[in-house]
Amino acid sequence: MSGTKNLFAIGLVSTIAAIAGLLFGFDTGIISGAILFIQKQFVLTTAMKEYIVSSVLIGAMMGSLASGRLTDNYGRRKVMLIVSGLFIFGTLIASLAPNVMWILIGRIVIGIAIGIGSYTAPLYIAEAAPLEIRGGLVSLNQLAITIGIMMSYLINYSFVDSAASWRLMFAIGIIPAVLLAIGVTMLPESPRFLVKQGEKSKARETLQYLRNHPNVEHELMSIESSLHTKQTKFKELFQKNIFKVLLLGIFLGFLQQVCGINTIIYYAPTIFQMAGFPSASSSILATVGIGVVNVLSTVFAIMYLDKLGRRPLLFAGLIGMALSLSILSFGFYYHGDADILRWTAMGSTFVFIICFAFSLGALLWLMVAEIFPLEMRGLAMSIAVFSCWFWNFTVSSTFLTLLDKLGASTTFLMYAMMCVFGLIVSTFVVPETKGVSLETIEHNIRRGVPLREIGMPVENTMAISLHENNIA
Ligand code: BGC
Repeated sequence: MSGTKNLFAIGLVSTIAAIAGLLFGFDTGIISGAILFIQKQFVLTTAMKEYIVSSVLIGAMMGSLASGRLTDNYGRRKVMLIVSGLFIFGTLIASLAPNVMWILIGRIVIGIAIGIGSYTAPLYIAEAAPLEIRGGLVSLNQLAITIGIMMSYLINYSFVDSAASWRLMFAIGIIPAVLLAIGVTMLPESPRFLVKQGEKSKARETLQYLRNHPNVEHELMSIESSLHTKQTKFKELFQKNIFKVLLLGIFLGFLQQVCGINTIIYYAPTIFQMAGFPSASSSILATVGIGVVNVLSTVFAIMYLDKLGRRPLLFAGLIGMALSLSILSFGFYYHGDADILRWTAMGSTFVFIICFAFSLGALLWLMVAEIFPLEMRGLAMSIAVFSCWFWNFTVSSTFLTLLDKLGASTTFLMYAMMCVFGLIVSTFVVPETKGVSLETIEHNIRRGVPLREIGMPVENTMAISLHENNIA
């Protein structure tokens, strides 16, 4: 099946996705350093700082809600082009902004691009990639996000001494955005979209190109038959069996954010300064370390998610996150020796990031692509992605206020408690989906098996339900 052309095409598709994920990471991460310099130029209240950090998230919420309809009406490729245009446009506005209002507008436009891209890029890959490597490519997206975050931290660090630093920090994002625009023009439209538009022969040509094989009739037929049932009505999501999985997706989006990940990703230098790091540059350097371990731990997740399974990694991650956040909270409570607080803050945030990256970081995006039945995947996925952005916004826009009102110790303890809550709920509701086909998952959902068992081989779930009926 795979030939040179196939590998080239798949390589191109993955690279494009990687650039969209990279921009997601870059544009969300860059603010952590930039905010320190924006506040030097403009007088900012706590609330204004929170708006600047979270304006991108308001845009992302809007983008993720609109993304399902946009990709259905205009096609994946066109929407990716629009995404790169929005990235370029938003970056220009933010980096040339004469005042805070224009920074906010620019960041909202960038956010819309991130929201649409965070949905469209994985969808585009999933539809173009051969079945055997689809899972790996989805997780590659998370790797690109973490690389984007790391790059933003490195840029934050290298621009630290420049006078107009925050403008340059934002402006660098133009480069990947232009690369994305150029890359997308080289890509074919998704075969699924072409079939939907009635352009069957074009779809056949595209599949032959992507698969490097003349006989693609079987795949074409299965796309056609899945499209017959594709017109999901909103109310179908409320059928009992489907609604349960939708709630699971919404819960995973919620949990990924209420553990407080982005208080570290967006505010790490601020936290390090609070913990006694002497200068902006030493705090930003410590943050670069956060970026590096985030990437490395994501590589670990990609290697082991399919071997160790989703549940063990999730549980280990949540326990590690709860513990490290409790230690961070204790460090701020104790207020003892300045050196001890500094190293406790750094050590515990590093452990927290490692634990997040090998569990919830990679898992959310993987599971929302796995758990929904094909016919409603688009709609359900955009709702789960929206949940993630909504909770991201809620946590990031309240963090500084919580620090002011409750203090660092109580604030981090609250996030630790959220991890414990997540651990308890996940034990009952998160399925193991390792090594099971999406069709089996769908089959189990439709038969109404409990959420935790939707990833089990069909024979096992049948045995369980027979056993339960006998007992009853
Ligand atoms: C999350 C982001 C987070 C990033 C950190 C992603 O999976 O959705 O909110 O900033 O991981 O690596």
